[in-house]
Amino acid sequence: MCGIIGFVGREPAAPILLDGLARMEYRGYDSAGVAVRSETKGLQVKKTKGRLKVLSDLIHGGADLEGNLGIGHTRWATHGEPNDINAHPHVSENGRIAIVHNGIIENYLELKEHLQKLGVTFQSETDSEVVAQLLEYHYNECHNMLEAVGRVLRRIEGSYAFGIICADYPNALIAARKDSPLILGYGENGNFIASDVTAIIKYTRDVAYMDDGEIAVLTADSIDVFDDELVPVEKHRSTVDWDVSAAEKGGYPHFMLKEIMEQPEAIRKTVSPRIKNGRVVLDDLHLTEEYVRDISRIFIIACGSSYHVGMVSKYNWEKLMRRPVEVTLASEFRYCDPLVDEKSLVVVISQSGETLDTMAAMREAKRRGGRTLAIVNVVGSSIAREADDVLYTWAGPEIAVATTKAYSTQLVLMDLVGLYLADLLGTVEQSEYDAILTEVQSLPEKMQEMLNRDTEDIQYFASRYFNHDSIFFIGRNLDYAMGMEGSLKLKEISYIHSEAYASGELKHGTISLIEQGTLVVALGTYAPLFDKAMSNVVEVKARGAEVLALTTEDFREKMEKTADATVAVPVTHPVLQPSLGVVPLQLFSYYVALQRGCDIDKPRNLAKSVTVE
Ligand code: M6R
Repeated sequence: MCGIIGFVGREPAAPILLDGLARMEYRGYDSAGVAVRSETKGLQVKKTKGRLKVLSDLIHGGADLEGNLGIGHTRWATHGEPNDINAHPHVSENGRIAIVHNGIIENYLELKEHLQKLGVTFQSETDSEVVAQLLEYHYNECHNMLEAVGRVLRRIEGSYAFGIICADYPNALIAARKDSPLILGYGENGNFIASDVTAIIKYTRDVAYMDDGEIAVLTADSIDVFDDELVPVEKHRSTVDWDVSAAEKGGYPHFMLKEIMEQPEAIRKTVSPRIKNGRVVLDDLHLTEEYVRDISRIFIIACGSSYHVGMVSKYNWEKLMRRPVEVTLASEFRYCDPLVDEKSLVVVISQSGETLDTMAAMREAKRRGGRTLAIVNVVGSSIAREADDVLYTWAGPEIAVATTKAYSTQLVLMDLVGLYLADLLGTVEQSEYDAILTEVQSLPEKMQEMLNRDTEDIQYFASRYFNHDSIFFIGRNLDYAMGMEGSLKLKEISYIHSEAYASGELKHGTISLIEQGTLVVALGTYAPLFDKAMSNVVEVKARGAEVLALTTEDFREKMEKTADATVAVPVTHPVLQPSLGVVPLQLFSYYVALQRGCDIDKPRNLAKSVTVE
């Protein structure tokens, strides 16, 4: 939530800040703002409600703001409505210090009251402004900006990534981080801070990841990092291997469509390096056979679509491993007094690696002695760095708020991990192991074949159903888990009310909602339960539902006899079928949202990376 950027160097800062913010707008798009410092004009702050485009037009692409030092922000509102005043940067009362913030200052009210008693006047309703005012207060005390930042950080509670500039320091940008991502970028013409590498990748791939409690002082030629006691820290620098085109639309109308199309390649990149000589090889996983045999319980923790991957994995892992697997929403897990102990393997799944609830749940699991394994897409993200083991999905940057390729790569990676653990436990037959492994490797090809097909039928269904107010996704077992993802995709980007139900549960209440013309997306791709799926289709049809069915090619004919419309996907091993089944669901959501004229890549009220509770 919220994207921050900062630049200090030998080039005009404003266009660089706007360009970086444009690549991070998926993190929040309620308002945007920049502060730039120049010799002649001092601190210039421009901020406005609405999309970045509004800000960019206001300052003519940055041309209006002079200066080679600046900070920028794109906001997902938490404290205070999205308006011009609550937009960042926030400026201290004397107008000499400007800050951008991502995170939440939990004790801001108490600090605000304290400063108000001292006579400070606040402009906004935000928690962030308190930091600008507090900085001025401490700076007036010690006349040293680094020291003032240190003092402020000791007083605030909560999460933060800050970019700070001060009129008295014409050549320095200060940054600090705790529990919100912040990256340092080492460029040729200057140095950067950013919430996400995509913002600065056009300028540099040479980066370092700030750790909690660290403060950085950047000039055009240097980056010095300090710990919370202001003792210098040596940072490990790494090279980002994504290229700029990965974060651009490349001719597609939306990032979501581009990312749907990139799935075969993303799966290939995630799977190929991990299969050698007919075996799953997970070099980065440091679990001994002895430890695995001793695992009494497996927890999978995640939010949103990552949680839905966990749901699929629960079915598959229990089948393969014969061990209890509990899937819990991270926001519930952290407060449920979980029964985690030293014999618990706790798997956390997160595309961004920054989701606050997932991070907190992981920390709670660690505190209770569990061993944590993170499945993460963003290299160097907080969850990746804190987990005992991390396995990366190689989906590349995912920009659309609605996840597609990250979901798909999480799914296959979890399948590989399940297979690997089952093999260590000796709970999977060799023939089954080989069959799954062969099919995992053919997924990219089968998916590509689906994506190469004309999507006219899906576009037609979208045009036929886009006006429905409420849509149900029904299925059993893996189809139910996949339906959860189909339903979330649809509701988040098209704003149509939608629910996923386990088909067998319908008659215990929900079927009362089915009436003439209700759209039901019936999922029947899981071969072992196809007949049961058919019975449920018949049941809802009998109550007047219009049924759009999804099945596999070998069941198409049977399904077509009952459903109003049918989409069929290629057959693969049953445990992998959701990897193919989800693609038409993604496309259906995409085309429905397109028909409804929705802002597909940036749906209302949402942000890509949820770094608040
Ligand atoms: O980055 P994470 O995987 O931890 O994010 C979790 C959810 O916020 C995320 O999957 C969300 O549900 C998706 N944007 C849905 O498309």
